Amino acid sequence: MKNVGVIGGGTMGAGIAEVVARAGSSVRIVERDEAIAGAQQRIEKSLARAVKARRLSDDDAKATLGRITITSDLSTFADAELVIEAMPEIEALKVEYFTKLDEIVSPDAILATNTSSIPVIRLANATKHPERVLGMHFFNPVPIMSLVEIVTTLKADRAVVDKVTAYARDTLGKKTIESKDAAGFIVNALLIPYLLGSIRMYETGFASAEDIDDGMVAGCGYPMGPLRLCDTVGLDICLAVAESLYAEFSEPHYAPPVLLRRMVDAGYLGRKSGRGFYQY
Ligand code: NAI
Repeated sequence: MKNVGVIGGGTMGAGIAEVVARAGSSVRIVERDEAIAGAQQRIEKSLARAVKARRLSDDDAKATLGRITITSDLSTFADAELVIEAMPEIEALKVEYFTKLDEIVSPDAILATNTSSIPVIRLANATKHPERVLGMHFFNPVPIMSLVEIVTTLKADRAVVDKVTAYARDTLGKKTIESKDAAGFIVNALLIPYLLGSIRMYETGFASAEDIDDGMVAGCGYPMGPLRLCDTVGLDICLAVAESLYAEFSEPHYAPPVLLRRMVDAGYLGRKSGRGFYQY
């Protein structure tokens, strides 16, 4: 994959672009004009952290940055072999972009989505070649977390799935697992009820946020407590994923707690907005 496109340079898109560029591909990110500077900063900061932590040399960081360009012009994806979409979790927006992308990229380009919860087949069906559309579900922070869930659809071409799996594993150095196209895939279907349970526990005043988190870190050996993890993922994302799991399975443990909805209404989205269950 010499030329890779990424749509959206937010939390996930910036991380995906960084990892792809570190592996040697040229990456073009398509972002809204007003968010281009922010996306650039996100990548620079992340690379600076990697250099500081000695995970990356200064020269490699500069070379990585040199392989990334950010634009608002989707037509620059004409020569992309792979496009990874990481826009907000809004189905209509993603469908609109998959329809546009299908017109721009070459017929053998692969289109992937990083969606956490939207059925991939709905995005595939927005294109004329649904067999080349699949899910590549990265985890946050992308440069640190080793997993990519490869999501297949009823229409996906096995050769495309195998090619993307090999790319994620051998070139990007990620651990891959394969999931069917059901809400939550493997990890979120198991993780979200746990996170929602921690919010319900906090909401009822059963324990403080710190004690809930400390309990799971010190008692179960989790690297981060559930409420801090909600803040890290973004409460809007947690809500969107819970809503689609609930819509898919109609099981009460997927139902979003009222507090989660009200925090999102209030703009308390976690780390990215400066306030969630904790202040940042
Ligand atoms: P985010 O809100 O940080 O980033 C979304 C980016 O898309 C923003 O930079 C925004 O400016 C950009 N954008 C919005 N409209 C656009 C347009 N018309 N053209 C180009 N760019 C546009 O969201 P985040 O967290 O990066 O999530 C992106 C996707 O990744 C979602 O589908 C989410 O479900 C998924 N995801 C999120 C994870 C997380 O931990 N945050 C983990 C795994 C998947």
